[in-house]
Amino acid sequence: MITKRMEKAINAQINKEFYSAYLYLAMSAYCNKLGMSGCEHWFRIQYDEEVIHMTKLFDYIMQHGGEARLLKIDEPPADFGSILGAFEASQKHERFVTESINELLNVSVEEKDHATQVFLQWFITEQVEEEANVKEIVDRLKMIGDNGAALMMIDDKLSQRLPPAPVTAQA
Ligand code: FEO
Repeated sequence: MITKRMEKAINAQINKEFYSAYLYLAMSAYCNKLGMSGCEHWFRIQYDEEVIHMTKLFDYIMQHGGEARLLKIDEPPADFGSILGAFEASQKHERFVTESINELLNVSVEEKDHATQVFLQWFITEQVEEEANVKEIVDRLKMIGDNGAALMMIDDKLSQRLPPAPVTAQA
């Protein structure tokens, strides 16, 4: 059974993961508008990742006797200025989510909630991967600048991103 404080903190994280999904769907639509189908695909897969994050938290609350709450989701931006701008916004957002997960872990330690500490390890590892993935793309986009042919090559590489493997709340 999780405490009310822990429940409230996880419900707030569910909302952030939903917003992340919204944000990546908006980025996907932005790339579609620019005709960058590989980037569009990459962000669409990222949307799928965020839905998995949200679902894991949602299921976890209910499996531990808590009440999952769906809070209001903010509207994401529709214009990111450029492809690089979209990935930089993604990088900034992932750093924010990492801080939020770390704070969630702090709450679980303060609440002496060992089960939630173990559960959150998956998210800690996931955030390292998420930040590394987007950093690599931002670095490459900065390197190529206005080189259209190189941009097309990156777009083609991003089109090959595979969908996430299905996971459960216990995975
Ligand atoms: Fe759910 Fe991209 O963090």
